[in-house]
Amino acid sequence: MAHEFKEIDPNASTGAKVTNWFENRFPTAFSAYKVHMSEYYAPKNFNFWYIFGSLALLVLVIQIVTGIFLVMHYKPDAEKAFASVEYIMRDVPWGWLIRYMHSTGASAFFVVVYLHMFRGLLYGSYRKPRELVWIFGCAIFLALMAEAFMGYLLPWGQMSYWGAQVIVNLFAAIPFVGPDLAILIRGDYVVGDATLNRFFSFHVIAVPLVLLGLVVAHLLALHDVGSNNPDGVEIKAPSAPKDAQGHPLDGIPFHPYYTVHDIFGVAVFLFLFSAVVFFAPEFGGYFLEYNNFIPADPLKTPNHIAPVWYFTPFYSMLRAITSEMMYVLVACVVLAALFTFVKTKLPGIAKAIVGGAAVVAVALMLSIDAKFWGVVVMGGAVIILFALPWLDCSPVKSIRYRPSWHKYLYAVFVVVFVVLAYLGVQPPSPIGERVSQVGTLFYFGFFFLMPWWSQIGTPKPVPDRVTFKPH
Ligand code: HEM
Repeated sequence: MAHEFKEIDPNASTGAKVTNWFENRFPTAFSAYKVHMSEYYAPKNFNFWYIFGSLALLVLVIQIVTGIFLVMHYKPDAEKAFASVEYIMRDVPWGWLIRYMHSTGASAFFVVVYLHMFRGLLYGSYRKPRELVWIFGCAIFLALMAEAFMGYLLPWGQMSYWGAQVIVNLFAAIPFVGPDLAILIRGDYVVGDATLNRFFSFHVIAVPLVLLGLVVAHLLALHDVGSNNPDGVEIKAPSAPKDAQGHPLDGIPFHPYYTVHDIFGVAVFLFLFSAVVFFAPEFGGYFLEYNNFIPADPLKTPNHIAPVWYFTPFYSMLRAITSEMMYVLVACVVLAALFTFVKTKLPGIAKAIVGGAAVVAVALMLSIDAKFWGVVVMGGAVIILFALPWLDCSPVKSIRYRPSWHKYLYAVFVVVFVVLAYLGVQPPSPIGERVSQVGTLFYFGFFFLMPWWSQIGTPKPVPDRVTFKPH
């Protein structure tokens, strides 16, 4: 439907006339501003944990802008890549700053996104009606991992080269299609110039486009259903109190309240970010690994190959799956099938399917080597996040109103995740292997058993209104 022209008083100010001119020609922009900013009512009780979505957006912008400048001097050529990065660091005016912002930005992205995801876990933000917001988030997380992995090859240092070699070889462990798939990804029989070129192309354009699209979908879906909050109270539910205009009494317009609030968070973040960029850009070898200051040498494998810290929890899970561990996994599948048989009221046909699936799973587990199952476990650790909205069966959303022991369980989950991350950067050791095996079982147990443990205990009464103390 054509938009109706809005007439303006001829004596109005020039500013108002210019605004009116644009509004009549691009009304969509004005209504989008209203829907997403000035009339987007967000719960008034947001806390510290609610800053990380805006910070993720900020880091996304930092990565895109610094990336554009890096591409001006970087050479995606196996003969020149390493030297071009050194050239950016030493000779290009301000090149060191742009490069350190981009490399620190990669780690900052994961810090912010991990905290953002943990907030979702704390307050049950993935639950109805926000399942799609969460699913888009999980897809963003996958895309972010692909983006970081491909970006890491570009400096063409020893770690770039051997890290890519190890990870691409994992795909070769997939039965039947694996070896061909690995060649397709590399574009060669070993990581080489063809790999560098395709990773460059994916890193600078394909994956960023997907990421941007997913972020837009993430935010549009969120604004359709409205934000959750630390109390898990739905401020826009039909029964929630509203003012005369129908705006939720527990909500405040995003602009100006949360824009100003977010500026404070952004200032604190930029302070910490600058401290790393200017004083500790390598961050003790965690953000930029020491071996990556040595040019890639296909003839010399480094003693210890470890991915960057943000991948290491998942890398630990991969290393935890030894042939010995396969027996434990088989035992888990058998126990799960028995549990389904004894404890659930499924019809006979469903039980037969579960039993058949368990037999097939055990047969496959015993006939394909542990390396493949390691890859399955590593991938499964991320994929399982997609199912979270349906795994959590607690009668309440927010941790605030769950039985107190849930807090300790979440605390143990965080400790296990951090320990797995730590073990992933260490060289393999017998004790590290055992700990990572226990950690992997805990990680999967946390999710797979959630439908059971999330229902145990008596929740505290959830208030009708959000809890908010004006300062
Ligand atoms: C580039 C990465 C991402 C960006 C830019 C981003 C951006 C945002 C923003 C701006 C918000 C609203 C503010 C807030 O609630 O913090 C939000 C909310 C949310 N995000 Fe993300 N996000 C990203 C990744 C993720 C990931 C990886 C997940 C989960 C796997 C996720 C899950 C959620 C959920 C569940 C909400 C709703 C929270 C609530 O209402 O309580 N996001 N996101």
